[in-house]
Amino acid sequence: MSDPQTYIYPGSFDPVTNGHLDIISRASRMCKQLIVAVGRNREKKTLFTVEERIAMLRESAARVADSAGRPGGGNIEVVSFTGLLADFARQCGASVIVKGLRAMSDFEYEFQMALLNKYLDERIETIFMMTNVQFTYLSSSAVKELALNGADISGLVPDGVQERIRFKVTSQRG
Ligand code: PNS
Repeated sequence: MSDPQTYIYPGSFDPVTNGHLDIISRASRMCKQLIVAVGRNREKKTLFTVEERIAMLRESAARVADSAGRPGGGNIEVVSFTGLLADFARQCGASVIVKGLRAMSDFEYEFQMALLNKYLDERIETIFMMTNVQFTYLSSSAVKELALNGADISGLVPDGVQERIRFKVTSQRG
């Protein structure tokens, strides 16, 4: 039996942005345990490896405060998964999938995913959290494009992520 107090927040997180962190922070206050699950998708070309994405998420989650204002993100776990999200959610004992919604453009894809996950396991509910208005325009792709073109993205990503992108770009250019 899955635990109604364990939520799972899946994504590519390539890299984590302040928009993701806002959802992580708010969702972690709604449940007993929040599992942040990084999808391993061999077909999707990513800038960061799964291990790097996990490391950035863990560093960022450690700075999230709980409902009492204590930092530490104590009820947040960051892991990776392969295969179907519904299967992984079941393995983790999570009964709720959390997704962030920015604009109507996210809706169609997310609606399809939610219905497919429901088809795969009817006990799993998907809940959508509206992104904080200040992050409506924010995406990992936009952040990467800005950073690759030398823009200052320090206000868009958690501390340390801008440096990691810079380092990655420099090492890739050789
Ligand atoms: O941040 P993203 O790229 O929107 O995250 C996508 C992710 C990892 C949540 C999505 O690709 C996913 O759930 N992958 C697992 C495969 C799966 O279960 N697909 C749904 C049924 S087709």
